[in-house]
Amino acid sequence: MNVAKENAAIAALEFVRDGMILGLGSGSTAEIFIDQLGERVAGGLKIQGIPTSARTAECAIEAGIPLVDADKVEKIDLTVDGADEVDPAFSLIKGGGACLLREKIIAHASSKMVVIVDNAKLVDTLGAFPLPIEVDPFAMALTAEKIYQALKDTGCREAQTVLRQAKDKSGPLVTDGGHWILDSKCELIPSPVETARALSQIPGVMEHGLFIDLADVIIVGEVDHAKVMEL
Ligand code: A5P
Repeated sequence: MNVAKENAAIAALEFVRDGMILGLGSGSTAEIFIDQLGERVAGGLKIQGIPTSARTAECAIEAGIPLVDADKVEKIDLTVDGADEVDPAFSLIKGGGACLLREKIIAHASSKMVVIVDNAKLVDTLGAFPLPIEVDPFAMALTAEKIYQALKDTGCREAQTVLRQAKDKSGPLVTDGGHWILDSKCELIPSPVETARALSQIPGVMEHGLFIDLADVIIVGEVDHAKVMEL
């Protein structure tokens, strides 16, 4: 197991309180958190989780975490999730695991979002990690062209877009919501706010992986400790 990710995940437990409804993120770091949380639940902690992906739901069930239907809650107290890149303003790229739509719905509905990463995820400017954009398969080529324009117009250094394929090579990867993912090699995204706004205006874009003004706390795991940063 990656020790840095584990240290970040353990530090995130400090934000969890009895009675909370917790958004459970997706990806390898979030899964470590879920395992740790499961141990606390076994020890008597009373929380309910809302998974952000089918895979996370499986992990949470395996860890013994009680789940609640997202349609049955009035509030989400805290979401703990990973990220692919984090900039100094706490803007994120997410979606490397193809779960960005549900992750963003849950993060946006949460009173607080704690992001757990290892320090390789910290960047000065977002964009080296290809930006995942979840699109409706209908007229995807037209949507892809609009995305290319939006990225160029908002100053991204590159705008090359690749349709993500399923691991078993059976065709395009299909998200939990039934959409496809375009990974955009931007290299540099100089104005994440403007790029996010431009992408959100394209009808075929279901959601994009720029998470702006959502993260409240970034926990950076190192080999022997975790650093907690709050805005
Ligand atoms: C899932 O869609 C992503 O947003 C993940 O949170 C992100 O890719 C980080 O994953 P790791 O913790 O596996 O690096």
